[in-house]
Amino acid sequence: EKGGYEHFMLKEIFEQPKSVHDTMRGRLLLDEGVIKMAGIWDHVERFKNANRIIIIACGTSWHAGLIGEYLIEEYARIPVEVEYASEFRYRNPIITDKDVVIAISQSGETADTMAALKLAKEKGAFIYGICNVVDSSIARITDAGSYTHAGPEIGVASTKAFTAQLTILTLIAFKLGKHNGNLGNAEFMSLIAELDAIPKKIEEVLNTTHELTQNIAKDFVKATNFLYLGRGYNYPAALEGALKLKEISYIHAEGYPAAEMKHGPIALIDENMPIVIIAPKKGHYDKIVSNVQEIKARKGKIIAVVNKGDRQVSEMADYVIEIPETSECFSPIVASVPLQLLAYYIAVYRGANVDQPRNLAKSVTVE
Ligand code: M6R
Repeated sequence: EKGGYEHFMLKEIFEQPKSVHDTMRGRLLLDEGVIKMAGIWDHVERFKNANRIIIIACGTSWHAGLIGEYLIEEYARIPVEVEYASEFRYRNPIITDKDVVIAISQSGETADTMAALKLAKEKGAFIYGICNVVDSSIARITDAGSYTHAGPEIGVASTKAFTAQLTILTLIAFKLGKHNGNLGNAEFMSLIAELDAIPKKIEEVLNTTHELTQNIAKDFVKATNFLYLGRGYNYPAALEGALKLKEISYIHAEGYPAAEMKHGPIALIDENMPIVIIAPKKGHYDKIVSNVQEIKARKGKIIAVVNKGDRQVSEMADYVIEIPETSECFSPIVASVPLQLLAYYIAVYRGANVDQPRNLAKSVTVE
């Protein structure tokens, strides 16, 4: 059932060209130039007239939510807040019937997310679900929703569910933006054409970085700390990269917005600190270059995720992972793939049980 792979996690990483494609199938109709999502369309006025959208989730799904905030605010210009379900439910949040709540959950069974939704529902908010498991508790309590069609995810570390969640959030942002007039037709058309090509780019990244990430992983088996940095859309991708590493390898890792480094974490940097930097061409590249210079000056070990043909960051990096160019909004999907592989191989070389890390469960049904 692992399809020849040593672990479910590796199988699921490699399934991503297909799972992202399956998530778009029947929704992204490129030839007609439309995005079809019944769950959104049937309630489009709720979204259009929403005071704000509140995204509620935990863990990896919360990271997807953060990227959703960037997407929906940029393309649909609707204010978005992203909350940890566990914090939201206990802080007496202000919720009205003009709010739209989007819950993101792979399992659809996460206790805190479920409780937060019940609360939002009581206060009259419209509730939308992005779940992977069909007919799960969260899918059932929501007013409407879109399933990620990633297929069953067995590895405790979420991989293909994450990129499928990003795919859905992208479709929602483009759909709403097109409808409310914030996303013009020409830009919409070129964005959806690019989105359609993402599964191919994931395929390419898997082919070009699989061996490379194994080689890099060998050098970090004994590491005790890692920093992951990114800006813009890739800041949440940095958080997600760090979470993947810590949960399966038990190496302490932190994700940070690259510019926040100088407000504290820079104190940690010396020749023993590995730092993964996500630095594609589109999206604050020049700013990232100066962050990398600051790290270089302190002799941090730099693992850079850059676009093909990159010079400036690559010249300073100790390890270079190349990914194909995309619009900034799609780069977390593409950049996450080598970070999943890197975490996977570091954990494997440390002899960890990657599919079932200690102390963790696939669905967290207790608060
Ligand atoms: O099933 P959910 O998406 O609601 O789960 C949320 C988190 O428990 C989950 O993403 C967790 O952080 C994963 N182990 C991350 O890989």
